[in-house]
Amino acid sequence: MAFKPAKWPRKLRSQEWYGGNSRDTIYHRGWLKNQGYPHDLFDGRPIIGILNTFSELSPCNGVHMKELAEKIKAGIWEAGGFPVEVPVFSASENTFRPSAMMFRNLAALSIEETIRGQPMDGAVLMVGCDKTTPSLMMAAASCDIPSIVVTGGPMLNGYYKGERVGSGTHLWKFSEAVKAGEMTQDEFLEAEASMSRSTGTCNTMGTASTMASMAESLGMALSGNAAIPAVDSRRRVIAQMSGRRIVEMVKDDLKPSDIMTKEAFENAIRTNAAIGGSTNAVIHLLAMAGRVGIDLTLEDWDRCGREVPTIVNLMPSGKYLMEEFFYAGGLPVVLKRLGEGGLLHKDALTVSGASIWDEVKDAQNHNEDVILPTDQALTQSGGIVVVKGNLAPKGAVLKPSAATPELLQHRGRAVVFEDIDDYKAKINDPDLDIDETCIMVMKNCGPKGYPGMAEVGNMGLPPKVLQKGITDMVRISDARMSGTAYGTVVLHTSPEAAAGGPLAVVQNGDFIELDVANRRLHLDISDEDLAARLAEWQPLGGAPESGYAWLHQQHVEGADTGADLDFLKGCRGNDVGKDSH
Ligand code: FES
Repeated sequence: MAFKPAKWPRKLRSQEWYGGNSRDTIYHRGWLKNQGYPHDLFDGRPIIGILNTFSELSPCNGVHMKELAEKIKAGIWEAGGFPVEVPVFSASENTFRPSAMMFRNLAALSIEETIRGQPMDGAVLMVGCDKTTPSLMMAAASCDIPSIVVTGGPMLNGYYKGERVGSGTHLWKFSEAVKAGEMTQDEFLEAEASMSRSTGTCNTMGTASTMASMAESLGMALSGNAAIPAVDSRRRVIAQMSGRRIVEMVKDDLKPSDIMTKEAFENAIRTNAAIGGSTNAVIHLLAMAGRVGIDLTLEDWDRCGREVPTIVNLMPSGKYLMEEFFYAGGLPVVLKRLGEGGLLHKDALTVSGASIWDEVKDAQNHNEDVILPTDQALTQSGGIVVVKGNLAPKGAVLKPSAATPELLQHRGRAVVFEDIDDYKAKINDPDLDIDETCIMVMKNCGPKGYPGMAEVGNMGLPPKVLQKGITDMVRISDARMSGTAYGTVVLHTSPEAAAGGPLAVVQNGDFIELDVANRRLHLDISDEDLAARLAEWQPLGGAPESGYAWLHQQHVEGADTGADLDFLKGCRGNDVGKDSH
């Protein structure tokens, strides 16, 4: 049904705090006046929360976020709104332990209550590093308050010895080169310094760039937002334009539930395939859909992604970086190509108030080596593959554009690591009974198991295999993988080992068959043996007994449904509730 803007003027929720002259109103309004706000700002104009994930310990959401917030404020003032900047929980992928993923849901919980409990009529979601994007979008969706995403933008290209250096992607490559004896420690340090040339998020099509692209393809950010580098002046322009736009969205009452429809999610899934996006997007989109009550499943991922070629030639699947993607035309070019190929729901609404097709139909590709012609796609079927079988009854995922084609059909002997510590203890052992035909299996790294589902699924290969010049093997786990990583890696195996899934009972020497064409992941033992092993299975122990880690482990759901906390799913709206003053 077409969106119908609400009538304006009308009373907004912020007037529950600031409207009238009761004792409660004066309590709220009087205290805010200590910031030096004139009385006429409380006249019923939209109050916009700028939810800023800036943190000096979230380098991806670094100092440039402060400057962007000022531009957003300028846009809000210009449009007749009243901006208030609010710092919110910031979980950086490269800092938080044991895994930033464990805190995505905590961030979403705290930010949801930050919105609902305070006088905001609309929200600007200032995001960047991987988890900040889904956590703020989940929070906004659960409150269903008009919201617009502004990302901090990617870093500039890294260069080392004249070659592009991609965040993360080259970290994995260089560390394997050190293990294989092809790179010295001094060279490694020099390369590290070359990797991060400016503020911003990872410059590859890692999870941060993927999630920025998901926000744009869902219609939750202004067109073109995803690819603009953090330090480019046009990043500041789009921040200001987003500030202007959120005020109009509040007047129109244009909410996440109007934008984040099933069609919008299907657009995002196809976009993920076209850009060679991160497997982490699977979990985050499933969780976001759960917040707006959209029935999105792993089957939707497999179905929608199948016929979509990967046309964005960016690391880790390809060779360029986000800076070049921006110069080539960015995501609007990709969305236009999807639309021309009948792979886009063109009528899907965006934060601009226009349809996604209206936003992208005039986009132009300025570099066909970065955004490839369809017949030169990196892979013709670029969507995330969902495999199932007795080893993954609820599914597991694999990113074909980052995998070795010859390994997509493979039967091999399992070499099992009980958890990440077991892997670290054994992988460099020259006596480890492993060769390149084996399948590496790691357990207890899922949402409950790690806890928090760390990005350890792309296990580094054993040195004795690397020294043969071999760079890929089939790896299977219940973990996630960094969006900057690559390889024939089966991830998110569900149910996870710590929840008693079949992965928990794989033994050294078992044979496993991966058959991507037939979407199959099979442990080659009889049903009776599998049942007997599962009957004897015992959890590893060492579960957290208190604090947030306990809450997370008690309530986190499986990766196959988005790993949200069970009591946070759904939209709870933005009713003010009682005022105790
Ligand atoms: Fe933060 Fe990549 S680690 S964006």
